Parts: sequence; structure tokens; C-alpha cells
Amino acid sequence: MQNSKLTVVGAGSVGTSIAYAALIRGSARHVALYDIATEKVEAEVLDLAHGTQFTGASDITGGSDLSVVEGSQVVVITAGAKQKPGQSRTELASVNADIISGMMPDLLAVAPDAVYVLVTNPCDVLTVLAAEASGLPRNRIFSSGTVLDTSRLRWKLAQRVGVNTSSIHAFIVGEHGDTEFPLWSEARIGPVPILDWETEDHPRLTVDELHHIATDVRDAAYKVIKGKGATNNAIGLSSARIIEAILQDEKAVLPVSTVLEDFHGIDGIALSVPSVVGSTGATPIPNTPFSQEELQLLHRSSDALAGVLESLRN
Ligand code: 2OP
Repeated sequence: MQNSKLTVVGAGSVGTSIAYAALIRGSARHVALYDIATEKVEAEVLDLAHGTQFTGASDITGGSDLSVVEGSQVVVITAGAKQKPGQSRTELASVNADIISGMMPDLLAVAPDAVYVLVTNPCDVLTVLAAEASGLPRNRIFSSGTVLDTSRLRWKLAQRVGVNTSSIHAFIVGEHGDTEFPLWSEARIGPVPILDWETEDHPRLTVDELHHIATDVRDAAYKVIKGKGATNNAIGLSSARIIEAILQDEKAVLPVSTVLEDFHGIDGIALSVPSVVGSTGATPIPNTPFSQEELQLLHRSSDALAGVLESLRN
């Protein structure tokens, strides 16, 4: 990680959890936290710095001066309003669109070469607007998308079939939100197609069960928000994973959300599909196989987000 620098914009529960996860995983040599709320950001930075005896070589700085962001290779944006219990991600669109579009020119002025990762919701919609506001190429501005939802899916499947989450090869794609869906047609456990997996202790999954698992994953954030007011830990870890893929030029395949260009007929809408993530950003994998039904679902996600974008532009 040498001299790598990550800045997290927004010192709320999500931004702080990303900084925390990045510190304890050693995702970047220098981690910075930036927020316009001086007292809050200084307190969060102090609280993180006080624990660095127990982390690796990473350090933490931050504050409310834009110079905090200077020299970053990765800027992760979490600023904005968060979901209230029962509220959907897209209901945050208009308030967060203004916040994100407004801050892009300032961030670009101090970190012109960074890869930008949006975490603020609705992250797909905001990726399109931030890409427009920044003029950055599509690979250099993308969102965490369904990396978290995919982790939720793998966790649930791993529990059910009795293998480690890293041996579950399955993706949630589409919107990070209510129209997301799993790419079941290609899902595997180790080398075994998902519906064929069977052990003495773990009977075969049924199509009905897969449907319930997908619904649970889709609605997982609502459940957490109802119980504790926000989701923060899992998005912190998911974001740290994306940051590492960029800073270490891993070329890892992750379902981040980029503004798609002629992807199965979708253009100008940001959706998560398996993408190669490295130091130049994210590139969707064009020949990712989709069944006919999955393609319809992808277009349903695209249509839903196009509707939100249209309402914001009118
Ligand atoms: C999540 O899925 C709320 O988007 C956030 O945890």
C-alpha cells in the first residue's frame, strides 16, 4: 500500500465505519476523513486515532478543510441524508442529488486524479449525476452498488449449504435497492450449480427457497434500519474491499455500479453488474451471461432508475 491515500467524505456512521474498516484491514497507508461539521469530524478522527496502536501501519487524519482530500488516490463519498425506517433509497434522491452534484467540483479541484466511489444513496442514481457533474470517464466514478447485497446473499447461502462464504459464487446485480436480483442462472457453490448442491446435512435448495433468500437479501437493509436506525458495519467492510481492489490494482471482479454503455441495450444508467476493479477504476464485464428472465429484470431496474433520474431532471 506504500503511500496510498484514501479520503472518506462524510463523518456520519457510514463514513466513520468505512474509515474504521479501512484502518483495521490496512486498506490504505493514509486514511483521511473529511466533513464540513468540524467538531464532529475532529471527534471521529480522534476516536479512530486513539486506537491506532492496535491497527497496522495505516494512519488517520481529517477535518473540515478541503485540503484534507488533497493527494487522494481514492475518494469515497458518503455525505448526505440517510434512510429513515420504512423509507426507500430512491426517496432520498432529490436531497442527496443536490449535495453530491454540489460537492463534486470542489473535490475534483483538490483530488483531480482520484477514483471516486459513491456510497450515498440512491447510489446508482447519484453515480449518473456525479459523473455528469464531474465530467470524469465512466470507469473513474462508480458506486459500491450491490457489493454489500452480494455479501448478504453469500452469507445467507453459506449458512444454508454449510460452506464458507468465499466458496459461494453468486452475484446480486441491478439497482442497489428494491429492483435488485440475483444472477441465479450462473450461481455456483464451489464448482457445483446452485440447485445441484447436496450433502448429508444439507438437502438441495428449491426454487422457492431461492426466491425467499433473494427477497430477504433485498429487504435486509430495511430490517437493520428498523432495528438500529442505520446500516454501517457491513457497508464499511464492503467499501474497504472495493478500496483495496483499486489501490492494489487487483483487477478483482466485484458487482459495483457504473454508468453503463450499451450493456445489453442499457445506456446512460448506472447499475451493478460484475465489473473488473483496479487502479483505473471499474469496467463492466460485457459478456456476463444473463438468462432471458434476468435480462428482463435488469431492464426493470434500468427503467426504475431512469424514472427517478427523469423526475430529478424535470
Ligand atoms: C444498505 O444496503 C442502506 O444502502 C444501505 O445497507
